[in-house]
This record gives sequence, C-alpha cells and structure tokens, in this order.
Amino acid sequence: MSDGPLTAEQLSDFERDGFILVRGLFDSEEVDLLKRSAKEDRELDAHSYGKDDGEGGTVRLSLWNHPGDGIYGMFARCNRLVTAMEQLLAGEVYHYHSKMIMKDAKVGGAWTWHQDYGYWYQNGILYPDMASASIAVDAATKENGCMQVLTGSHHCGRIDHVLSGDQAGADMERVDELVKRLPLVYCEAEPGDVLMFHSNLLHRSDMNRSDNPRWSMICCYNAARNDPYKDSHHPRYTPLNKVDDGMIKSVGVKRFEDDQSDVAWLDTSDDTSATSLSDN
Ligand code: SIN
Ligand code: MN
Repeated sequence: MSDGPLTAEQLSDFERDGFILVRGLFDSEEVDLLKRSAKEDRELDAHSYGKDDGEGGTVRLSLWNHPGDGIYGMFARCNRLVTAMEQLLAGEVYHYHSKMIMKDAKVGGAWTWHQDYGYWYQNGILYPDMASASIAVDAATKENGCMQVLTGSHHCGRIDHVLSGDQAGADMERVDELVKRLPLVYCEAEPGDVLMFHSNLLHRSDMNRSDNPRWSMICCYNAARNDPYKDSHHPRYTPLNKVDDGMIKSVGVKRFEDDQSDVAWLDTSDDTSATSLSDN
C-alpha cells in the first residue's frame, strides 16, 4: 500500500464501510480561508443552480471541472488530500470535478438516496474506481442536514437510478431493503473534517430547517487507469498536479478585486444532462 496520510486501519475501514471520516484534515486557519472565500464569492453564487428535491425544497450547488490555481484548487490538489485518495483508490487519481454544496439555513433542500456512480456510470466510466472528499466548510449536524450514509452499501454494486423531482435517486425498493440491513450513519462534522466516500456508497441528506448553513466542498476523483471511454460533461484523464500542503495558506483567501475566475464553472445551461441521470 502506498505511503500517505491514511493508516492501514483507515484503509481497511474504507474497504469495509465505504467511507471514513478524517477529523481535522484541514486546520482552522485553512478552512477559514476556504469559508471566507466561498461565502464572499459572487461568482460561486452567480453560477450556482438549484435542483428540486422532490420533497418541496431545492438543493443549491456550484460545480467546476478543473481545479484551478486558486484557493479551491489548492484544496483539491494538495498533497495530503490527493495522496489519501490515491491510497483509497490504489493508484494515481485525477480530478473529476469539485462542487460547493450550499445548504442554506432554513431553505437548503434534501438530497435523495443515491450513489455517485449511479450518475457517473452514464459518463462512459467502466469501473466504480472513484471516490469523493466532502470537506466540511460549516459544521455539519443532524439539524442542518449533514450527510447520511448506509454503511457497507458500496458492496452492492451499482443500483439503478430513477428521476424524482430534478434529482436522480437510487431505486427505492432496494434502498428500503438495504436500510433494514445496514447501519445508517449521520456524518456530523466540524469545519476541516473530511468525509471520504466510495462512489457506490448510498448517501443522502435532509433538508436544512435550522438557522445554520451547511456548506461543504466536495472534490471528486477518478482513478487514472479508469479513463472514460467517451466524452461527457466531466473530464477524461487529465494529469493532476499536486501542490504542497502549505500552498493553501500561501494562496490565501480568494481576491475578488481581480474579478477573475480561476475555474470554469459548469452551469446548467452548459450541462445538457443537468436534469438527467448523468448529472453531478
Ligand atoms: C451530493 O451527494 O453531492 C451532496 C450530498 C450532500 O452534501 O448532502
Ligand atoms: Mn452524491
């Protein structure tokens, strides 16, 4: 197993459960830079789009394919995170996309049960050798709609997904059976904690009815050996240039006076599949 920040125990937990929660992967100064950048980022806000959650709420997110050289890119490309992903996926990885999940106070919508590979399968990806890192920007609690996971559900393989509202969800007949058999975990997290999860892990989250926002930045990676066989709205293999961990603090808070984006946003208008099974 390659060297990196994750212990042998974390790797075997991931194999068994399909997820690990890595506490304090980012320190408070780092996550503060991310939080300040994101909350003041007019472009992030302007490029956000909503998806009806089928339960009366709307989820809001902004999404971009290539990590860029700004603060978001420094998180997605930093050595400690990428090397952890390489340990989990047993080899070189590339950045598949990142997104900011903006679950705003009172109104942030729910995410239905799904597997990410339920969508990404549609993008010409042959194997579920993919994983995501959800970085807590705000504290995530049961009350503000933290992520819920079904422990070990990644071992089921890919489940069929169907549309409900604007979101594609896993076939509920199967999910209902799995909920009876597998432990459901509420992944409460402090800012800077990172939930790393397998692309076939079933996950969902409740609407945020609380007074506290719950934003997370999710960085998604594909194994380099798992290059998609066709083009889609997410990239094929593109080498990922890792950066030193210290670069997060060196780059620092996003400078808005530049009025320039360092990432190309993927808007719903660009993404013809935004309301189909291949989104997200
Ligand atoms: C997602 O599945 O992309 C988002 C889930 C969440 O953050 O609640
Ligand atoms: Mn997901």
